[in-house]
Amino acid sequence: MINLIWAMTKDNLIGKGNLMPWHIKEDLVYYKNKTAGKTVVMGEETYYSLKGYYKTRPLPYGTIYVASLNTDLKLDDAIVINDLIDFVSNFKDELWVVGGATIYKLTLPYADRLYISFVKGNYEGDKYFPQIDYSKYKLIWDNETDLVHYTLYERV
Ligand SMILES: NC(=O)c1ccc[n+]([C@@H]2O[C@H](COP(=O)([O-])OP(=O)(O)OC[C@H]3O[C@@H](n4cnc5c(N)ncnc54)[C@H](OP(=O)(O)O)[C@@H]3O)[C@@H](O)[C@H]2O)c1
Repeated sequence: MINLIWAMTKDNLIGKGNLMPWHIKEDLVYYKNKTAGKTVVMGEETYYSLKGYYKTRPLPYGTIYVASLNTDLKLDDAIVINDLIDFVSNFKDELWVVGGATIYKLTLPYADRLYISFVKGNYEGDKYFPQIDYSKYKLIWDNETDLVHYTLYERV
């Protein structure tokens, strides 16, 4: 089961530089509840971005895989993978893909479930989620607050 989880605007904006364009606490709580202790994969840029937030604390996941094309990269708290497609297409257990833009684009074709938080409002940034063919998915759950429309899509 490959789960992708992310927050974006209605225009698919997900990032600004190496940071999130917004700070929405309720979405962070939602995200943390879903991914805490789970096996995750993220890109090298997202890994360093998260380390900036978790300067002295461990990242709040189970096993962490970091995708990078740098074959010399070694990390204390994560397993480095150099071939993301090979890794994802052969992964048999539950995996959570947590970004960023490059990694979402490469793994979207393998995604069984999309946990999309649609952030309301307008923000500026430079990193986007790729176009999604929603005809390949059905909405199986959603919940709307003043700030965010939380959705869960499953591949049909
Ligand atoms: N809104 C959200 O929910 C959310 C969630 C997470 C992240 N983000 C945002 O996303 C942005 C970061 O995204 P990004 O695209 O810059 O970086 P990224 O996806 O975090 O990382 C890209 C990394 O993937 C590596 N890579 C490329 N192809 C690969 C392959 N086939 N196998 C293994 N590794 C591969 C690249 O390696 P090389 O460097 O060696 O080329 C690069 O280091 C930030 O703005 C962040 O805040 C948003």
